[in-house]
Amino acid sequence: MAGEIDNHTVAKAYARWAPIYDFVFGAVFDAGRKASIAAAERIGGRILDVGIGTGISLTDYSPANRIVGVDYSEPMLRKAHERVVEYKLAHVEALAVMDAQRLGFPDAFFDVVVAQYVITTVPDPEAVLGEFARITRPGGEIILVNHLGAEAGLRRAFEQGFAPVARRLGWRPEFAWARLAQWAERHGGVRVVERRAMPPLGHFSLIRFERAAPVAQPAAAPAKGYAGPALVAQPGLARGPLP
Ligand SMILES: C[S@@+](CC[C@H](N)C(=O)[O-])C[C@H]1O[C@@H](n2cnc3c(N)ncnc32)[C@H](O)[C@@H]1O
Repeated sequence: MAGEIDNHTVAKAYARWAPIYDFVFGAVFDAGRKASIAAAERIGGRILDVGIGTGISLTDYSPANRIVGVDYSEPMLRKAHERVVEYKLAHVEALAVMDAQRLGFPDAFFDVVVAQYVITTVPDPEAVLGEFARITRPGGEIILVNHLGAEAGLRRAFEQGFAPVARRLGWRPEFAWARLAQWAERHGGVRVVERRAMPPLGHFSLIRFERAAPVAQPAAAPAKGYAGPALVAQPGLARGPLP
């Protein structure tokens, strides 16, 4: 449900995680990151990595693609920027502080949108998915990799019990697959093309949505603060729309 997590809590949580994030979540999430990048690169082109965090995935993308990364947390994104500089990642077109719920890009701007371990951390996942669909070109894909809550049993009970603590750490452990499937059905302009179990323990999933022809609706104006071509030309910490 929207509003269970707010941006303030997320910003505070990830400011704390930033210095130790790679150490804690580097290896454990690596298989999912690599699988989602392999899926994205089957399409290739301009790829948006949302919630790119410390940029831990950046060195896994082929230099043949053009990568734009956004994150709500400036401390996390600073680490990504350091990585771009350290590894001279010329295929990274831009990094910007931006809220995934209001992405400052034109419609159908990207070939692929990737979100690794992000959808359960945002206050309004359906709004974020709506933005992903808006900025993905027809025929392009939205690729998520994420922990999904168990539908029954002991794991479900544990995840529900742990949820209040997890929210303070910045995510929802009980987030159900049904929410993503229902969003796709309601949206009408996307279809689920794959759902694959991922390590660790198969409690994670890789999910691919294909973008169909655009839904007839008034074109949304680019959100205030979008830096336009300058954002794309200038890797660094461009500041996109924040509340
Ligand atoms: C669990 S981390 C995942 C980081 C990285 N993608 C990875 O593979 O490790 C979640 C990231 O999503 C970002 N995030 C949370 N809410 C966001 C929002 N509304 N807009 C953009 N990024 C957000 C957090 O700041 C954090 O960097």
